[in-house]
Amino acid sequence: MDAIENILSRKSVREFSDKEISEKDLKTILTAGMSGPSAVNMRPFEFIVTRKKALLEQIAEANGPYSGPLKLANVGIIVCGDIDKAYLGKEGYWIIDSTIAAQNMILAANALGIGSVWLGTYPEKAKYTAIQKLFSLSNHVIPLGTLAFGYPLDNKREVRDLYEDEKVHLDKW
Ligand SMILES: Cc1cc2nc3c(=O)[nH]c(=O)nc-3n(C[C@H](O)[C@H](O)[C@H](O)COP(=O)(O)O)c2cc1C
Repeated sequence: MDAIENILSRKSVREFSDKEISEKDLKTILTAGMSGPSAVNMRPFEFIVTRKKALLEQIAEANGPYSGPLKLANVGIIVCGDIDKAYLGKEGYWIIDSTIAAQNMILAANALGIGSVWLGTYPEKAKYTAIQKLFSLSNHVIPLGTLAFGYPLDNKREVRDLYEDEKVHLDKW
């Protein structure tokens, strides 16, 4: 698929079929996650990956009320940032580096015909601390976002035009 078509056809998918994501495709998605730019190349992103239904349900419970799609997902990936590894630490670049990783995985999945939705975790303290507790994470490893992946039930793919001219400030604000 053309790269621009991939970006413009991405949308959040919240209902998934039972079809398995192959190990090969999962590795491609994770490789994409690790292939974005990273401040001072510190690469503070870390990934908790599971296909286990019971664990997906536990993560969905920990991540709060809008996390239902994870219970239907084939694979869940929690994108974490290790603030001890990030450039400038806690107040530094970990969110940016980890967000790029998450978006790269979402786009790689879309290119493979796999749907996904980002379920917000950070900065909601109740959510990210519940996930830290579930996986006994150190305080310096912060769950940023929880991604649900699976083949879409609704297989309609369309290129959307979300361009807004008012958001573009040419030469001055
Ligand atoms: C940081 C972040 C948190 C989000 N949290 C949730 C969530 O908890 N549950 C959910 O169903 N969608 C969540 N979304 C998906 C947004 O609702 C979705 O991206 C937005 O409505 C635009 O729709 P689209 O992704 O189909 O373009 C989140 C997206 C982002 C970027």
